[in-house]
Amino acid sequence: MDNFTFYAPTYFAFGKETENEAGKYVKRFGGSRVLIHYGGGSVIRSGLLDRVKRSLEAEQLAYVELGGVKPNPRSGLVYKGIDLCRKENIDFILAVGGGSAIDSAKAIAAGALYSGDFWDYYEGKAVEEALAIGTIITISAAGSEGSADSVVTKEEGMFKRATTGEALRPKFTIMNPSLTQTLPAYQTACGITDIIAHLYERYLTNTKEVEVTDRMIEALMLTMIHEGPKVMEDPDNYEARANIMWAGMMAHNNSCGVGRTQDWTSHDIEHELSALYDCAHGAGLAVVMPAVFSYNMKHNVMRFAQAAVRVWGCQMDFEQPEKTALAGIEALRQFLISIGMPKNFHELGAKKEDIEKLAHTACYGDVNTGTLGGFVTLNQKDVENIYRL
Ligand code: NZQ
Ligand code: ZN
Repeated sequence: MDNFTFYAPTYFAFGKETENEAGKYVKRFGGSRVLIHYGGGSVIRSGLLDRVKRSLEAEQLAYVELGGVKPNPRSGLVYKGIDLCRKENIDFILAVGGGSAIDSAKAIAAGALYSGDFWDYYEGKAVEEALAIGTIITISAAGSEGSADSVVTKEEGMFKRATTGEALRPKFTIMNPSLTQTLPAYQTACGITDIIAHLYERYLTNTKEVEVTDRMIEALMLTMIHEGPKVMEDPDNYEARANIMWAGMMAHNNSCGVGRTQDWTSHDIEHELSALYDCAHGAGLAVVMPAVFSYNMKHNVMRFAQAAVRVWGCQMDFEQPEKTALAGIEALRQFLISIGMPKNFHELGAKKEDIEKLAHTACYGDVNTGTLGGFVTLNQKDVENIYRL
């Protein structure tokens, strides 16, 4: 196991009706003037926004609101949010929604305290300070509720970049699984896919002897395979939603990624797709993951075989372990199809003629080194091959 430090001081309030405590938590974490930040309207339609406002009012907290965050959040609204925070003297941002609302809130939080362009943080500048953030999540997916990361799309050029910094970790996160019951089935499935992807990105490691984190990841993957189909069948299954919600947080706050190298190839390759075609991040991952894994399998057949046996219940073929490894990748692919995810470029709305451009931006934009991947180092030609797969 590699050396590591781990500090993840988010306070979690989990369970039914916990959103009614939002005001109390904002106060506890020092907020007095709040920006409520949310998406395209699901929180208005569900009545959640009204309940949140009432809980702020009960604590005599002043607030302003800024809605309209699009999935794959855009830089334009971030600039608006930064101006609003300065004008209104905001000291706390409460994101209500999914990864997009949270990531946009994180960008505003960092930008509001910075005299330069907030986009500098998405081009490599370290985030050292940000306004305090709290979140109320309405979809189990991105894991931004417990992570120090934020992903934003730059409108000039439509490309996605990520930043990370401890100052961006939410002070508190409210997780009421029943808030996810209004999700369209497709979004639920995209979330399930993203959570599984966050687990694979950590599972694919070159670090030896990482039994504890291997086993934690496998447990979370098994949970997703077990609970995912339950919510697809019965969207009102609170217990299954609860298990998925906590698994989604655990999959990405890095408790099971410490002490080991991580991959992130599928995410780097996917981010170009959701930026260019505005598809859901999880849907893009469903297409990308099986292709990346088959392409990289030979690098460490036994790692894929281990996942196949322990997670997907495949029989180990000791004579030809690559058969086992492939069976595991195929089981993943079939699982994603079974929950309604797209299976190829065409279904995603992606175009063959864009492959060169996508691969170039993935290798020279996002990571900027000409290569990507923490498990196998891939160059632009490799990435083109994967998009073709
Ligand atoms: O905008 P509204 O009206 O709220 O509708 C949203 C949106 O259309 C809807 N929705 C969310 N909760 C709902 C609901 N509809 C009905 N009922 C509810 N309870 O679902 C749609 C998707 O929302 P979004 O926030 O975009 O989903 P998600 O949480 O999957 O976030 C995706 C974004 O997170 C980034 C992705 O790249 C993408 O931009 N990621 C962020 C990460 C991080 N910060 O750590 C890591 C991830 O790997 C990921 O890259
Ligand atoms: Zn993701």
